[in-house]
Amino acid sequence: MTLIAHISDLHVCKADFDEDIFMQAVGEINAMQPDMIILTGDLTDNGYYVEFEQAARYLSLFDAPLFAVPGNHDSRNLGYQSFEELIGERSWKLTLGEKVTVMGLDSSSPDEDRGHVGTPQHMWLEHQLDECVINENFSIVALHHHVVSIPQTGRERNVLSDAGDILKTLTTHEVDLVLSGHKHVPNIWKINDTVVANAGSLCSTKLRGKNKNSYNVYNISDTEIEIFLNTVGGERFLFGKYTRNKL
Ligand SMILES: [Fe+2]
Ligand SMILES: [Fe+2]
Repeated sequence: MTLIAHISDLHVCKADFDEDIFMQAVGEINAMQPDMIILTGDLTDNGYYVEFEQAARYLSLFDAPLFAVPGNHDSRNLGYQSFEELIGERSWKLTLGEKVTVMGLDSSSPDEDRGHVGTPQHMWLEHQLDECVINENFSIVALHHHVVSIPQTGRERNVLSDAGDILKTLTTHEVDLVLSGHKHVPNIWKINDTVVANAGSLCSTKLRGKNKNSYNVYNISDTEIEIFLNTVGGERFLFGKYTRNKL
């Protein structure tokens, strides 16, 4: 059994970051003792160095190992450099146990809101996913920008500019889980055999309508993936349940 918490869009800054909500989420997630935490971008609101310093301090409060990819807000104002200095690599691969492979992609570009994976990262991803297929590993790909449009978000502007090619790679390799953020709206799509899960904003006041701050939790057993949507300080419910691709 593998337990993963998926958080996103903290937007650490003076105006839109709710510290009380963040601290509540830290308590809830630490109590769950997940194997890892995946953070799909927008750690900061403006990419300022001082915001990254604050974000790094806040993230150190989580007990579980945490891996983050940058969002469009993080790549503003040379934030992509600050991210590497204070948070970690902008794209990465790790294995959890022997059978779970997690890859993080940087879909941001300096001072641009649109998402783009780009050819070098795409080729790297193809290679890693080929290995996952050969080894029959459970595969998770995390990136900030959504690869498919999200409901309740109005006119589409920021879906990955190379979404079609990336989606083709993800689905032909039967990636089990694709995790993203950016739109601050939790959502799940299933495309062919790939579950595409979006997390809401963990603790930013930038919410749509009456949406609440939330995070996703993935409970991965030998046969199933259960996805729980957790409202910070509130209810928790089963958001989706899927049979695993490689049994
Ligand atoms: Fe965001
Ligand atoms: Fe974003």
